[in-house]
Amino acid sequence: MSIVKLRVNGTTHEVDVDPSTPLLYVLRNDLDLHGPRFGCGLGQCGVCTVIMDGVAIRSCITPVAAVRGEITTLEGLAKNGKLHPLQQAWIEEQAAQCGYCQNGQIMTAKALLDRNPNPTDAEIREAMEGALCRCMTYYRVQSAIRHAVRETNAAGEAR
Ligand code: FES
Ligand code: FES
Repeated sequence: MSIVKLRVNGTTHEVDVDPSTPLLYVLRNDLDLHGPRFGCGLGQCGVCTVIMDGVAIRSCITPVAAVRGEITTLEGLAKNGKLHPLQQAWIEEQAAQCGYCQNGQIMTAKALLDRNPNPTDAEIREAMEGALCRCMTYYRVQSAIRHAVRETNAAGEAR
């Protein structure tokens, strides 16, 4: 065991863990952040996705010792009691079905919009490719992403 320092959603934490422990386990078990889920545990389904310094990563295959910079989880998206535009769009488009994969869908979409605020449909499809959904919500997820882009642009123009 050793003390590992992590910066998550704007707060610094120190955890006493085996450095090879997957980041996902530390987030869920030590920091009580249950947005990221356990699915395949093999880096293939995306349900454990978090953002590390702007890049969507699979926390199930990321040893906590390899974490650098700021981690953002689903819990870190809402600010000052206001949902992130993606979360709002998810509700308005009723994107989720069982919900299990939706952390991965939203966090992958967030990383996309942070680097490309006006993606084309093809760019959305390409970015979202690795976020798997057994309920087949792909079309509604894509609609929700387009919805968030429209709302964000409209809010920008209104300012
Ligand atoms: S649980 Fe991490 S990619 Fe499937
Ligand atoms: S909403 Fe059920 S797995 Fe995606």
